[in-house]
Amino acid sequence: MKAAVIREYGTPIEISDVPQPALLADSVLIEVHAASVNPVDEFVQAGYLREMMPLTFPFTMGFDLSGVVVEVGDQVSKFKKGDEVFSRPNGMQAGTIAEYAVIKEEELAIKPANISHQEAASIPLVGLTAWQAMVTKGNLQKGQKVLIHAGAGGVGTLAIQMAKHLGAEVATTTSAVNAEMVKTLGANVVIDYKTQKFEEELSDYDLVLDMMGGEILEKSFKILKKGGCLISIKGEDSKGLAEQYGVRFEAFFMWPSGEMLSQLAQLISEGALKPVIDRTFSIDQVQEAYGYLQTGRAKGKVVIQVK
Ligand SMILES: NC(=O)c1ccc[n+]([C@@H]2O[C@H](COP(=O)([O-])OP(=O)(O)OC[C@H]3O[C@@H](n4cnc5c(N)ncnc54)[C@H](OP(=O)(O)O)[C@@H]3O)[C@@H](O)[C@H]2O)c1
Repeated sequence: MKAAVIREYGTPIEISDVPQPALLADSVLIEVHAASVNPVDEFVQAGYLREMMPLTFPFTMGFDLSGVVVEVGDQVSKFKKGDEVFSRPNGMQAGTIAEYAVIKEEELAIKPANISHQEAASIPLVGLTAWQAMVTKGNLQKGQKVLIHAGAGGVGTLAIQMAKHLGAEVATTTSAVNAEMVKTLGANVVIDYKTQKFEEELSDYDLVLDMMGGEILEKSFKILKKGGCLISIKGEDSKGLAEQYGVRFEAFFMWPSGEMLSQLAQLISEGALKPVIDRTFSIDQVQEAYGYLQTGRAKGKVVIQVK
C-alpha cells in the first residue's frame, strides 16, 4: 500500500510502497480516506520521543484519520464492515498517512454524518487535546473566564468553540490577520499578541490553556485569580511558579479515547463544534503539508487527502 514513511530517525518523509498492517483481534482494518498533520509528528520523526514511543522502521507518519472499516478483528463488537469512523490511534498503532491502518476498537468513534472525511480527520488529536485540557484537567465551568493561547491554530480553533459551548467567557491570543476568524468561532476578547500585552489586558481568569511555553507560560500566571488553573500542553514544568501565585498547574500529553471522541462527534452533529481546515494536500504532497505546518501560521488544521 502507499504510505508516507521515514526509514530512520531524522530522515526525510518519502512516499513508499509498504506492506499493509496486519489485523489484530482487538482492532479494525480501515481504508483511510483522509489524515492530518500535527506539530508532534516532527518530534516523532526527529527521534525526540524515542523513549516514550520507540519506532520500528519503515515508520508510517500520522496520528489522525477518517475512513471506512473494511475488516474487523475477532474480539471487536462495536464496529462493523462499512462503518465510517475517525480516530487518534495510540503511538504503537500510529501511521495514518497511508491507504490502510489498523486501529484498536477502543480508540475509534463513528464519524459524524454531517461532515466529510477530510473534516473528520482534522478533529481527533487536537479535539481530544482541547477537551482533555479544558474539561478533564481544567474543569472549566459555565460563567468562568478562560484564556486560550494561539486561538487560530489546530488546538485553539476547537478549544475556543468548546469553551464557548460550555458557557465560558473566552479570551484568545492571535495575530491581527486571524482576529475575525477567532471572533466568529466564539472568542469574546481577542488579544493581538504583536501589539498588545495579554498580561496587562486580562485579570482574574479561572483557566489558561497554554501551548506556547517559555515567557508566555510565565506571564500567563499573572492573569489568574487565586485558586485558578494553568494547563500546559507544551511539555514544560512550572510547578514552582504555580505555588508562588497560589494556582494549580498541570502539564500533560493527550491520550487516545474512542469514548471521548464520540462525545466530540455528538457536539459536531449538533453543530456546536465545527472543523476548521486551512489547507488540504494530497498524499503525494505530504512534504509540502509538513512544510506549511512548520511555518507556524496554519489557521486551523492541515489535512491530507489519502483516497
Ligand atoms: N501535549 C499535548 O498532548 C499536545 C497536543 C496537541 C498539541 N500540542 C502542542 O500545542 C502546540 C499547538 O498545536 P497546534 O496543533 O494548535 O499548532 P498549530 O496549528 O501549528 O498552531 C499554529 C497557530 O499558532 C499561532 N501562533 C503562533 N505563535 C503565536 C503566539 N506567539 N501567540 C499566539 N498565537 C500564536 C498562529 O497564529 P498567528 O498566525 O495568528 O500567529 C497559528 O494559527 C504545539 O506546540 C503542539 O506541539 C501538544
